Amino acid sequence: MLDHLILQKTRLARLAPLVLSALLITQVAPVAASDHGHHKVQAKFNQAGELARPANIKEWISIGASVTPKDMNNGKPAFPEFHYVYLDHASWSHWKKTGEFREGAMIAKELVSVGSKSSASGSGYFAGDYVGPVAVSVKDSKRFAKSNNWGYFVFGDDKALSAPADESCVACHKANAAQDMVFTQYWAPLRAVSPKK
Ligand code: HEC
Repeated sequence: MLDHLILQKTRLARLAPLVLSALLITQVAPVAASDHGHHKVQAKFNQAGELARPANIKEWISIGASVTPKDMNNGKPAFPEFHYVYLDHASWSHWKKTGEFREGAMIAKELVSVGSKSSASGSGYFAGDYVGPVAVSVKDSKRFAKSNNWGYFVFGDDKALSAPADESCVACHKANAAQDMVFTQYWAPLRAVSPKK
């Protein structure tokens, strides 16, 4: 009888952590499932309409890179030279489901110099160091109704806040970008996962 009781107790003790972790998992799952466990990034504006520099851009999803090297642009490309482009996680998930940019979407573009033109893999353009400011676009249909729902910002020199950039950003994106003000024609990872293709 005593043996039996002890056995039952040991079984319970063995089961307890399992039951507990099952409980924990059910509680944590809804948050994690929404966005691969990443926090939903939200654009933060102050009263003056300045955007706060988004944190952890490098942890967003890389949607591609372009390069406008100096030696192909008379030494002065508009955005020197590599452009590394990232989309926030919630917008990536939304894009995979719909093939569209969610309200609140943020895209960041970092600039990196060409460091060398030859490497063990051959001749080409190879990344040097970070240079220049970080450009950020934000989709907000209320705030930016006049510019096709997108606002454009530039964060130079570790600036924490950016006022909206001048009209040139809007004009060029409006005239040349393939979908919803974004140059999806150059972002292969986006096109590859779009349900609209
Ligand atoms: C003369 C045209 C032109 C102007 C002006 C321009 N852009 Fe762009 N932008 C592009 C092109 C083309 C790409 C995609 C290819 C690349 O990276 O070079 C792009 C890409 C971007 C991206 C990546 C997401 C996307 O839309 O594809 C961001 C963010 C961006 N630009 C921000 C800005 C900001 C901020 C300004 C204004 C300060 C600006 N751009 C001005 C042409 C322009």
